Amino acid sequence: MIELEGIKKVFRMGSQSLEALKGVSLKIERGEFISIMGPSGSGKSTLMNIIGCLDTPTEGEYVLDSDRVAGLSFDQLAAVRNRKIGFVFQNFNLLPYATAWENVELPLLFDGKNARKRKERVTELLKAIGLYDWREHRPSELSGGQQQRIALARALANDPPILLADEPTGNLDSRSGEEIMDILTELWKEGRTIVMVTHNDRISAHSQRIVRLFDGLVLP
Ligand SMILES: Nc1ncnc2c1ncn2[C@@H]1O[C@H](COP(=O)(O)OP(=O)(O)OP(=O)(O)O)[C@@H](O)[C@H]1O
Ligand SMILES: [Mg+2]
Repeated sequence: MIELEGIKKVFRMGSQSLEALKGVSLKIERGEFISIMGPSGSGKSTLMNIIGCLDTPTEGEYVLDSDRVAGLSFDQLAAVRNRKIGFVFQNFNLLPYATAWENVELPLLFDGKNARKRKERVTELLKAIGLYDWREHRPSELSGGQQQRIALARALANDPPILLADEPTGNLDSRSGEEIMDILTELWKEGRTIVMVTHNDRISAHSQRIVRLFDGLVLP
């Protein structure tokens, strides 16, 4: 499902350059649930952004669901992302002035779904995460755990086969974190491929396999 070969990422800032990934090779099968762990600065988010088609590698091959991703244009990447990948972040990244409903509806609007389909899907998603009654609230009126559930619903709007989560419980208390993990586990059991970054051993214990990054490389 996800095949990375010799992935390097160099960030250039003026005359300085920093090699955040130094040749990462990694294969993730369809339906796997993996955790990526490693110290701060080891390249976890850089790798997730490449897997999620939010960024492109400087060097290396990336095959996603039998499509070569390296070398795609920005627009082509956006199309792959919209169809195949849902992304959740540590800080939720919800639109602050939009309601819960509008946040979840956004990817459906981008995908050109009509009003009836959007209404049906948003209703279904909000009910599934138990926040239908909160649909008119803005993110600032919701708890962290509720915001992350909204972010998950938004990530799932177009029913992507892959879900990427970069420290999804990093800003949550342990109870809200466990709620998010219950939802992720459920989504995995439904057949989705899940890749999650975490610093927390209790959180990574929910996954099937742990990949450890150190200084831009996968530890053997
Ligand atoms: N856009 C960028 N421009 C320049 N340097 C960057 C950029 N993004 C990341 N880096 C650098 O790349 C390295 C890896 O960063 P990355 O964010 O992938 O680490 P991480 O493992 O996710 O760390 P954390 O656990 O703190 O989130 C760091 O040295 C970071 O400063
Ligand atoms: Mg990070």
